[in-house]
Amino acid sequence: MTALPPKRIYLSPPHMGQAERELLLDAFDSNWIAPIGPHVDAFEREFCETVGVPYAVALSSGTAALHLALLLLGVGPGDEVIVSSFTFATTANAVMYMGATPVFIDSDPISWNMDPGLLREELESSAKRRKVPKAVIVVDLYGQCADYGQVIETCERYGVPVVEDAAEAVGSTYKGRPAGSFGAAATFSFNGNKIITTSGGGMLVSSDAGMVERARHLATQAKDPAPHYQHSAIGYNYRMSNLLAAVGRGQLRVLKDRVSRKREIFQFYQRAFGDLPGVSFMPIASYGEPNYWLTCILVDPAHFGATREDIRLALEKENIESRPLWKPMHLQPVFKDCRVRGGSVSEGFFRDGLCLPSGTALTDVELERVAGIIRDAGRG
Ligand SMILES: Cc1ncc(COP(=O)(O)O)c(C=O)c1O
Repeated sequence: MTALPPKRIYLSPPHMGQAERELLLDAFDSNWIAPIGPHVDAFEREFCETVGVPYAVALSSGTAALHLALLLLGVGPGDEVIVSSFTFATTANAVMYMGATPVFIDSDPISWNMDPGLLREELESSAKRRKVPKAVIVVDLYGQCADYGQVIETCERYGVPVVEDAAEAVGSTYKGRPAGSFGAAATFSFNGNKIITTSGGGMLVSSDAGMVERARHLATQAKDPAPHYQHSAIGYNYRMSNLLAAVGRGQLRVLKDRVSRKREIFQFYQRAFGDLPGVSFMPIASYGEPNYWLTCILVDPAHFGATREDIRLALEKENIESRPLWKPMHLQPVFKDCRVRGGSVSEGFFRDGLCLPSGTALTDVELERVAGIIRDAGRG
Protein backbone atom coordinates (compact mmCIF):
# COMPACT_ATOMS: atom_id res chain seq x y z
CA MET A 1 0.00 0.00 0.00
CA THR A 2 1.33 3.44 -0.87
CA ALA A 3 1.11 6.09 1.82
CA LEU A 4 -1.46 8.85 1.31
CA PRO A 5 0.12 12.23 0.55
CA PRO A 6 -0.03 14.58 3.55
CA LYS A 7 -3.08 16.87 3.68
CA ARG A 8 -2.38 19.96 1.59
CA ILE A 9 -1.50 23.07 3.53
CA TYR A 10 -2.83 26.17 1.81
CA LEU A 11 -1.56 29.71 2.00
CA SER A 12 -4.59 31.28 3.66
CA PRO A 13 -7.75 29.20 3.42
CA PRO A 14 -11.15 30.25 4.80
CA HIS A 15 -11.66 29.66 8.53
CA MET A 16 -15.32 29.34 9.44
CA GLY A 17 -17.09 28.72 12.73
CA GLN A 18 -20.51 27.87 14.08
CA ALA A 19 -21.73 31.49 14.11
CA GLU A 20 -21.12 31.85 10.37
CA ARG A 21 -23.07 28.63 9.75
CA GLU A 22 -26.01 29.73 11.89
CA LEU A 23 -26.17 33.19 10.35
CA LEU A 24 -26.02 31.70 6.85
CA LEU A 25 -28.88 29.33 7.66
CA ASP A 26 -30.84 32.21 9.16
CA ALA A 27 -30.44 34.11 5.88
CA PHE A 28 -31.44 31.03 3.92
CA ASP A 29 -34.52 30.34 6.03
CA SER A 30 -35.64 33.97 5.83
CA ASN A 31 -35.77 33.62 2.01
CA TRP A 32 -33.78 36.86 1.60
CA ILE A 33 -31.77 35.09 -1.07
CA ALA A 34 -30.93 38.22 -3.00
CA PRO A 35 -28.35 41.01 -3.17
CA ILE A 36 -30.42 42.89 -0.60
CA GLY A 37 -31.74 42.00 2.84
CA PRO A 38 -31.33 42.44 6.59
CA HIS A 39 -27.91 40.78 6.76
CA VAL A 40 -26.52 43.14 4.11
CA ASP A 41 -27.74 46.14 6.13
CA ALA A 42 -26.41 44.71 9.39
CA PHE A 43 -23.04 43.76 7.87
CA GLU A 44 -22.60 47.32 6.60
CA ARG A 45 -23.46 48.77 10.06
CA GLU A 46 -21.17 46.37 11.90
CA PHE A 47 -18.34 46.90 9.42
CA CYS A 48 -18.62 50.67 9.92
CA GLU A 49 -18.15 50.13 13.66
CA THR A 50 -15.08 47.96 13.05
CA VAL A 51 -13.43 50.42 10.68
CA GLY A 52 -14.57 53.58 12.45
CA VAL A 53 -16.09 55.09 9.30
CA PRO A 54 -19.73 56.23 9.17
CA TYR A 55 -20.83 54.90 5.75
CA ALA A 56 -20.33 51.61 3.90
CA VAL A 57 -21.83 49.72 0.99
CA ALA A 58 -21.38 45.95 0.72
CA LEU A 59 -20.35 44.83 -2.78
CA SER A 60 -19.63 41.71 -4.77
CA SER A 61 -15.84 42.15 -4.65
CA GLY A 62 -12.97 44.41 -3.72
CA THR A 63 -12.49 44.96 -7.44
CA ALA A 64 -16.03 46.32 -7.75
CA ALA A 65 -15.34 48.61 -4.78
CA LEU A 66 -12.20 50.03 -6.43
CA HIS A 67 -14.03 50.51 -9.73
CA LEU A 68 -16.85 52.45 -8.06
CA ALA A 69 -14.42 54.54 -5.96
CA LEU A 70 -12.66 55.75 -9.11
CA LEU A 71 -15.94 56.31 -10.92
CA LEU A 72 -17.20 58.48 -8.06
CA LEU A 73 -14.00 60.50 -8.00
CA GLY A 74 -14.65 61.32 -11.63
CA VAL A 75 -11.64 59.48 -13.07
CA GLY A 76 -11.94 59.24 -16.84
CA PRO A 77 -10.10 58.87 -20.14
CA GLY A 78 -6.91 60.92 -20.33
CA ASP A 79 -6.49 61.09 -16.54
CA GLU A 80 -3.52 59.71 -14.64
CA VAL A 81 -3.93 57.84 -11.37
CA ILE A 82 -0.97 57.09 -9.12
CA VAL A 83 -0.88 53.48 -7.90
CA SER A 84 1.49 51.43 -5.72
CA SER A 85 3.49 49.23 -8.08
CA PHE A 86 3.83 46.47 -5.51
CA THR A 87 0.26 45.16 -5.40
CA PHE A 88 -2.22 42.75 -6.92
CA ALA A 89 -3.23 43.61 -10.50
CA THR A 90 -6.75 44.67 -9.55
CA THR A 91 -5.53 47.96 -8.10
CA ALA A 92 -4.17 49.00 -11.48
CA ASN A 93 -6.89 47.27 -13.51
CA ALA A 94 -9.51 49.50 -11.91
CA VAL A 95 -7.69 52.52 -13.36
CA MET A 96 -7.79 50.89 -16.81
CA TYR A 97 -11.55 50.24 -16.47
CA MET A 98 -11.96 54.03 -16.37
CA GLY A 99 -9.88 54.54 -19.51
CA ALA A 100 -7.26 56.31 -17.37
CA THR A 101 -3.53 55.59 -17.09
CA PRO A 102 -1.79 54.24 -14.00
CA VAL A 103 1.51 55.77 -12.92
CA PHE A 104 3.40 53.42 -10.64
CA ILE A 105 5.34 54.27 -7.50
CA ASP A 106 7.85 51.93 -5.90
CA SER A 107 7.75 50.68 -2.29
CA ASP A 108 9.73 51.89 0.65
CA PRO A 109 11.70 49.24 2.53
CA ILE A 110 10.11 50.24 5.88
CA SER A 111 6.58 49.03 5.20
CA TRP A 112 6.82 47.65 1.63
CA ASN A 113 4.05 50.11 0.72
CA MET A 114 4.08 53.21 -1.50
CA ASP A 115 7.22 55.24 -0.84
CA PRO A 116 5.97 58.65 0.41
CA GLY A 117 9.17 60.36 -0.80
CA LEU A 118 8.69 59.08 -4.36
CA LEU A 119 5.02 60.05 -4.22
CA ARG A 120 6.05 63.60 -3.28
CA GLU A 121 8.54 63.70 -6.18
CA GLU A 122 5.91 62.45 -8.63
CA LEU A 123 3.31 65.00 -7.50
CA GLU A 124 5.86 67.82 -7.61
CA SER A 125 6.83 66.92 -11.14
CA SER A 126 3.24 66.46 -12.28
CA ALA A 127 2.32 69.88 -10.83
CA LYS A 128 5.18 71.43 -12.84
CA ARG A 129 3.81 69.74 -15.96
CA ARG A 130 0.33 71.01 -15.00
CA LYS A 131 -1.01 67.46 -15.11
CA VAL A 132 -1.83 66.60 -11.53
CA PRO A 133 -3.21 63.04 -11.25
CA LYS A 134 -6.91 62.58 -10.64
CA ALA A 135 -6.37 60.26 -7.65
CA VAL A 136 -3.81 58.23 -5.74
CA ILE A 137 -4.52 54.60 -4.80
CA VAL A 138 -2.44 53.52 -1.83
CA VAL A 139 -2.36 49.82 -0.91
CA ASP A 140 -2.01 48.38 2.61
CA LEU A 141 -0.03 45.35 1.53
CA TYR A 142 -0.01 42.03 3.34
CA GLY A 143 -2.07 43.70 6.05
CA GLN A 144 0.31 46.55 6.88
CA CYS A 145 -0.81 50.17 6.53
CA ALA A 146 1.06 52.62 4.33
CA ASP A 147 2.44 55.73 6.00
CA TYR A 148 -0.79 57.74 5.88
CA GLY A 149 0.56 60.72 7.83
CA GLN A 150 2.95 61.50 4.99
CA VAL A 151 0.75 60.29 2.12
CA ILE A 152 -2.31 62.33 3.11
CA GLU A 153 -0.30 65.47 3.85
CA THR A 154 1.37 65.33 0.44
CA CYS A 155 -1.84 64.59 -1.45
CA GLU A 156 -3.71 67.38 0.36
CA ARG A 157 -1.00 69.82 -0.68
CA TYR A 158 -1.74 69.03 -4.32
CA GLY A 159 -5.50 68.58 -3.88
CA VAL A 160 -5.43 64.94 -5.02
CA PRO A 161 -7.92 62.52 -3.39
CA VAL A 162 -6.62 59.29 -1.89
CA VAL A 163 -8.29 55.89 -2.25
CA GLU A 164 -7.09 53.36 0.28
CA ASP A 165 -6.98 49.82 -1.13
CA ALA A 166 -7.30 48.07 2.21
CA ALA A 167 -8.31 44.75 0.60
CA GLU A 168 -5.70 42.89 2.66
CA ALA A 169 -5.88 45.01 5.81
CA VAL A 170 -9.18 44.39 7.62
CA GLY A 171 -8.28 44.71 11.31
CA SER A 172 -4.95 46.56 10.85
CA THR A 173 -4.21 49.95 12.39
CA TYR A 174 -2.07 53.03 11.70
CA LYS A 175 -1.28 55.14 14.78
CA GLY A 176 -4.25 53.49 16.50
CA ARG A 177 -6.68 54.26 13.63
CA PRO A 178 -8.14 51.36 11.64
CA ALA A 179 -7.07 50.72 8.06
CA GLY A 180 -9.78 52.06 5.80
CA SER A 181 -10.36 55.28 7.75
CA PHE A 182 -7.97 57.37 5.63
CA GLY A 183 -8.55 59.17 2.36
CA ALA A 184 -11.69 59.99 0.42
CA ALA A 185 -12.74 56.34 0.29
CA ALA A 186 -11.38 52.93 1.15
CA THR A 187 -12.03 49.52 -0.33
CA PHE A 188 -11.92 46.04 1.19
CA SER A 189 -12.00 42.47 -0.09
CA PHE A 190 -13.59 39.39 1.46
CA ASN A 191 -12.19 37.05 -1.17
CA GLY A 192 -11.62 33.46 -0.03
CA ASN A 193 -7.98 33.97 0.91
CA LYS A 194 -8.46 37.11 3.03
CA ILE A 195 -8.28 37.30 6.83
CA ILE A 196 -12.07 37.28 6.93
CA THR A 197 -14.04 36.07 3.95
CA THR A 198 -17.51 35.80 2.47
CA SER A 199 -16.19 33.53 -0.34
CA GLY A 200 -16.19 36.60 -2.56
CA GLY A 201 -17.17 40.10 -1.57
CA GLY A 202 -16.06 43.63 -0.94
CA MET A 203 -16.91 46.88 0.84
CA LEU A 204 -16.59 50.53 -0.05
CA VAL A 205 -16.41 52.87 2.94
CA SER A 206 -16.22 56.64 3.24
CA SER A 207 -17.08 59.45 5.58
CA ASP A 208 -18.85 61.11 2.65
CA ALA A 209 -22.49 59.99 2.86
CA GLY A 210 -23.26 61.19 -0.67
CA MET A 211 -20.43 59.19 -2.15
CA VAL A 212 -21.57 55.96 -0.52
CA GLU A 213 -25.18 56.58 -1.55
CA ARG A 214 -24.13 57.13 -5.15
CA ALA A 215 -22.06 53.94 -5.00
CA ARG A 216 -25.08 52.04 -3.69
CA HIS A 217 -27.22 53.41 -6.52
CA LEU A 218 -24.68 52.55 -9.25
CA ALA A 219 -24.07 49.10 -7.74
CA THR A 220 -27.80 48.35 -7.95
CA GLN A 221 -28.12 48.89 -11.72
CA ALA A 222 -28.66 52.65 -11.23
CA LYS A 223 -32.44 52.28 -10.95
CA ASP A 224 -34.23 55.61 -10.70
CA PRO A 225 -36.99 55.84 -8.08
CA ALA A 226 -39.91 54.93 -10.36
CA PRO A 227 -42.39 52.02 -10.40
CA HIS A 228 -41.07 50.96 -13.80
CA TYR A 229 -37.45 50.37 -14.75
CA GLN A 230 -35.89 53.73 -15.48
CA HIS A 231 -32.20 54.59 -15.64
CA SER A 232 -30.50 57.95 -15.93
CA ALA A 233 -27.01 56.54 -15.51
CA ILE A 234 -25.09 53.41 -16.47
CA GLY A 235 -25.33 51.00 -13.55
CA TYR A 236 -23.62 47.83 -12.39
CA ASN A 237 -24.69 44.62 -10.71
CA TYR A 238 -22.20 44.93 -7.86
CA ARG A 239 -24.16 44.32 -4.63
CA MET A 240 -23.31 41.63 -2.08
CA SER A 241 -25.72 38.73 -1.58
CA ASN A 242 -27.64 38.60 1.71
CA LEU A 243 -26.37 35.00 2.16
CA LEU A 244 -22.76 36.13 1.96
CA ALA A 245 -23.32 39.15 4.18
CA ALA A 246 -24.56 36.73 6.86
CA VAL A 247 -21.26 34.84 6.65
CA GLY A 248 -19.40 38.15 6.79
CA ARG A 249 -21.17 39.11 10.03
CA GLY A 250 -20.01 35.89 11.65
CA GLN A 251 -16.47 36.49 10.42
CA LEU A 252 -16.43 40.03 11.85
CA ARG A 253 -17.18 38.61 15.29
CA VAL A 254 -13.94 36.61 15.22
CA LEU A 255 -11.77 39.21 13.51
CA LYS A 256 -9.82 40.03 16.69
CA ASP A 257 -9.07 36.31 17.25
CA ARG A 258 -7.98 35.94 13.65
CA VAL A 259 -5.58 38.88 13.92
CA SER A 260 -4.03 37.53 17.10
CA ARG A 261 -3.60 34.05 15.59
CA LYS A 262 -2.01 35.57 12.46
CA ARG A 263 0.38 37.48 14.75
CA GLU A 264 1.22 34.24 16.59
CA ILE A 265 1.95 32.53 13.26
CA PHE A 266 4.31 35.35 12.24
CA GLN A 267 6.08 35.11 15.60
CA PHE A 268 6.19 31.31 15.40
CA TYR A 269 8.03 31.43 12.08
CA GLN A 270 10.37 34.11 13.42
CA ARG A 271 11.30 31.91 16.37
CA ALA A 272 11.55 28.78 14.21
CA PHE A 273 14.03 30.08 11.60
CA GLY A 274 14.56 33.81 12.08
CA ASP A 275 18.08 33.01 13.23
CA LEU A 276 19.08 31.56 9.84
CA PRO A 277 21.51 33.67 7.81
CA GLY A 278 19.98 35.32 4.76
CA VAL A 279 16.35 35.17 5.95
CA SER A 280 14.44 38.29 6.93
CA PHE A 281 10.77 38.99 7.61
CA MET A 282 8.49 41.78 6.39
CA PRO A 283 9.45 44.66 8.67
CA ILE A 284 6.75 45.91 11.02
CA ALA A 285 6.67 49.71 10.76
CA SER A 286 6.71 51.37 14.17
CA TYR A 287 3.62 53.46 13.37
CA GLY A 288 1.07 50.68 13.33
CA GLU A 289 -0.12 47.18 14.01
CA PRO A 290 -0.69 44.97 10.94
CA ASN A 291 -3.21 42.15 10.80
CA TYR A 292 -0.32 39.86 9.71
CA TRP A 293 -2.51 38.52 6.88
CA LEU A 294 0.40 36.60 5.35
CA THR A 295 3.83 35.98 6.84
CA CYS A 296 6.30 37.10 4.17
CA ILE A 297 10.03 36.48 4.08
CA LEU A 298 12.95 37.65 1.97
CA VAL A 299 15.67 35.15 1.16
CA ASP A 300 19.20 36.20 0.28
CA PRO A 301 20.55 33.10 -1.51
CA ALA A 302 24.19 34.13 -1.04
CA HIS A 303 23.78 33.80 2.74
CA PHE A 304 20.94 31.30 3.02
CA GLY A 305 22.33 28.80 0.53
CA ALA A 306 19.08 28.45 -1.44
CA THR A 307 16.72 30.77 -3.31
CA ARG A 308 13.13 31.55 -2.48
CA GLU A 309 12.18 29.37 -5.44
CA ASP A 310 14.15 26.46 -3.93
CA ILE A 311 12.10 26.90 -0.76
CA ARG A 312 8.84 27.13 -2.68
CA LEU A 313 9.59 23.93 -4.58
CA ALA A 314 10.69 22.10 -1.42
CA LEU A 315 7.40 23.05 0.24
CA GLU A 316 5.38 22.12 -2.86
CA LYS A 317 7.02 18.69 -2.87
CA GLU A 318 5.49 18.21 0.58
CA ASN A 319 2.09 19.41 -0.63
CA ILE A 320 2.46 22.82 0.99
CA GLU A 321 1.44 25.99 -0.83
CA SER A 322 3.60 29.10 -0.73
CA ARG A 323 3.73 32.00 -3.21
CA PRO A 324 6.30 34.49 -4.49
CA LEU A 325 5.53 38.03 -3.35
CA TRP A 326 3.52 40.15 -5.81
CA LYS A 327 5.19 40.76 -9.13
CA PRO A 328 5.27 44.59 -9.33
CA MET A 329 2.90 46.17 -11.82
CA HIS A 330 5.70 47.94 -13.71
CA LEU A 331 7.09 44.47 -14.59
CA GLN A 332 3.74 43.15 -15.84
CA PRO A 333 3.53 42.78 -19.63
CA VAL A 334 0.10 44.44 -19.65
CA PHE A 335 1.47 47.62 -17.99
CA LYS A 336 4.81 47.73 -19.78
CA ASP A 337 4.11 51.15 -21.34
CA CYS A 338 3.17 52.84 -18.04
CA ARG A 339 5.45 55.24 -16.19
CA VAL A 340 7.13 54.13 -12.97
CA ARG A 341 9.01 56.11 -10.35
CA GLY A 342 11.71 53.99 -8.76
CA GLY A 343 11.19 50.24 -9.09
CA SER A 344 14.24 48.44 -7.77
CA VAL A 345 12.87 48.00 -4.22
CA SER A 346 9.76 46.06 -5.26
CA GLU A 347 11.77 44.20 -7.92
CA GLY A 348 13.95 42.89 -5.09
CA PHE A 349 10.87 41.84 -3.11
CA PHE A 350 9.60 39.89 -6.08
CA ARG A 351 12.98 38.28 -6.74
CA ASP A 352 13.64 37.21 -3.14
CA GLY A 353 10.26 37.15 -1.42
CA LEU A 354 7.93 34.35 -0.44
CA CYS A 355 4.53 34.26 1.32
CA LEU A 356 4.27 31.38 3.76
CA PRO A 357 1.22 29.37 4.84
CA SER A 358 -0.60 31.63 7.27
CA GLY A 359 -4.05 30.08 7.73
CA THR A 360 -5.45 30.76 11.18
CA ALA A 361 -6.65 27.16 11.54
CA LEU A 362 -3.11 25.78 11.11
CA THR A 363 -1.90 23.82 14.10
CA ASP A 364 1.53 24.30 15.67
CA VAL A 365 2.43 20.82 14.40
CA GLU A 366 1.68 21.91 10.84
CA LEU A 367 3.65 25.11 11.33
CA GLU A 368 6.58 23.01 12.62
CA ARG A 369 6.42 20.95 9.43
CA VAL A 370 6.61 24.08 7.26
CA ALA A 371 9.43 25.55 9.35
CA GLY A 372 11.41 22.28 9.26
CA ILE A 373 11.32 22.19 5.46
CA ILE A 374 12.53 25.80 5.28
CA ARG A 375 15.40 25.12 7.69
CA ASP A 376 16.40 22.02 5.66
CA ALA A 377 16.23 23.97 2.37
CA GLY A 378 18.95 26.26 3.70
CA ARG A 379 21.20 23.30 4.52
CA GLY A 380 20.72 21.76 1.08
C1 LIG B 1 -4.43 44.59 -2.82
C2 LIG B 1 -5.68 44.01 -3.39
N1 LIG B 1 -6.55 44.82 -4.00
C3 LIG B 1 -7.71 44.37 -4.51
C4 LIG B 1 -8.03 43.02 -4.43
C5 LIG B 1 -9.29 42.58 -5.13
O1 LIG B 1 -10.26 42.09 -4.30
P1 LIG B 1 -11.34 41.03 -4.86
O2 LIG B 1 -10.64 39.74 -5.10
O3 LIG B 1 -12.34 40.94 -3.75
O4 LIG B 1 -11.93 41.60 -6.09
C6 LIG B 1 -7.15 42.13 -3.80
C7 LIG B 1 -7.37 40.69 -3.64
O5 LIG B 1 -8.08 39.92 -4.05
C8 LIG B 1 -5.94 42.63 -3.28
O6 LIG B 1 -5.07 41.81 -2.67
